[in-house]
Amino acid sequence: MLMALVLRGVGAEPQALTYEEHIKPILREHCLKCHGEDEQKADLNLQTHASTLKGGSGGVAVVAGRSSQSLLFQAITDPDDGARMPPKKAAIPQAQIAMIKQWIDSGLRETSASKSMVAERDLSFKPAAGAGAKPESPAMPENLPEVKVAKTMRPLPVLAMDASPWTPLLAVAAQEHVRLLNVETQAEVGRLAFPEGVPQVIHFSRDGAVLMVGGGRPVKSGKVVLFDVKTGKRLAAIGDEVDSVIAADLSPDQQLVALGGSGKVVKVYSTTDGKLKYRITKHTDWITAVAFSADGKQLATADRAGGLHLWEAGTGRAVLTLAEHKASIRALDWRADSKVLASAGEDGLIIWWDVVDGWPAISKPNAHPPTRPAGVYGKLPNGVLTARFDRNGNLCTAGRDRTVRLWDASGKEIAAFAIADAQPLSAALSFDGKKIGGGDTAGNLHFWNLEAKK
Ligand code: HEC
Repeated sequence: MLMALVLRGVGAEPQALTYEEHIKPILREHCLKCHGEDEQKADLNLQTHASTLKGGSGGVAVVAGRSSQSLLFQAITDPDDGARMPPKKAAIPQAQIAMIKQWIDSGLRETSASKSMVAERDLSFKPAAGAGAKPESPAMPENLPEVKVAKTMRPLPVLAMDASPWTPLLAVAAQEHVRLLNVETQAEVGRLAFPEGVPQVIHFSRDGAVLMVGGGRPVKSGKVVLFDVKTGKRLAAIGDEVDSVIAADLSPDQQLVALGGSGKVVKVYSTTDGKLKYRITKHTDWITAVAFSADGKQLATADRAGGLHLWEAGTGRAVLTLAEHKASIRALDWRADSKVLASAGEDGLIIWWDVVDGWPAISKPNAHPPTRPAGVYGKLPNGVLTARFDRNGNLCTAGRDRTVRLWDASGKEIAAFAIADAQPLSAALSFDGKKIGGGDTAGNLHFWNLEAKK
């Protein structure tokens, strides 16, 4: 009997809290003296559901579905004693804070007869016909020129990798070059020289014909180089940075390259003449990730402070700000239907954003939960270091829990692979969705079979 009850609780909707029954008593106890019928400090009246929704001099106080973006919730949880509500008092009890959070997140119901104010949304994955279709002859390397590489004392951590969307090809970062491997045989099929330094970001073009490599030498120089996958020929070298490129992406029509790094500025270049088309100067910290949408219409850019913005890809005009991350964003990627953008960061969050209105449609806090070693206290690092979609809307991530995880289009975890004694830094799903490649801090490559897992 007890068992049955517990099980029902697991999948069930969180209890629908209402303003009248649950929230107003809390507000009456702590807030209505100053924000009620008699007095409205900051023009904020919390006496009724309608007036609460109206907000005060600072604007809207509650956003349905998003406590993290609600002024009222920030006011009662502010760590600063001088700024927290109610003024000059201890914070209200945790249980009441939790109820207010749940009331906001479940949609600000007035009474039990009210509907949630959080709109239902359909983000199911339906790849658009035509766009991103399979190329006629998917590119595989043929007799690439030989690339001699200097012997290194220690293998380089595998900072970046990417899988071709159409062939069993995996491109992997190495010292002053990129290794091309066949994911099926795990044999090296060629190398691309990158004398610019260490590759920090590697992306195949959406048709798999071009490989973009960004990187450089710390506090010296940075560049993005485009390679023809079949011949290994350098097609273009873009940017002339004074520090290594950390973030870069190639637009799906291959006309634009966006790049950024410690300079806090995103630069977007034309690939045909190498000229700067525009700059994005809104970020206040290092640029850590940039990504063009699969339809080429938008550019997402992210920084080390958790800032995330969407821009019109062609012009750099601002579209939306996506506020949620509280720490460095480590990865961005667009789903192939351009409806969803994934972001992942050092705050442990993976978010699947509905880019129409910048809504965190799926949000996984602590998506890579680390296990606590004996004798270790305090907060454990739980960052998510990489996130990459495959063509079918599955997302592959690697985290500080030393695990590579795979999530389906609905955000459900479908596989997890742990690395025993190193930290995975990069991961990618093979073109047919059958294998995951991962690279770690010790310079090792890992290949996991998904079919065996299922
Ligand atoms: C003793 C009076 C007092 C009490 C009690 C009080 N507040 Fe306030 N509140 C103020 C004053 C004064 C301001 C404006 C001053 C400021 O901006 O810091 C304010 C501002 C706010 C704001 C910002 C409104 C805006 O639009 O800028 C919010 C939200 C808020 N209070 C929520 C609450 C909540 C929720 C409670 C109960 C948990 C509460 N307050 C209790 C006096 C009070």
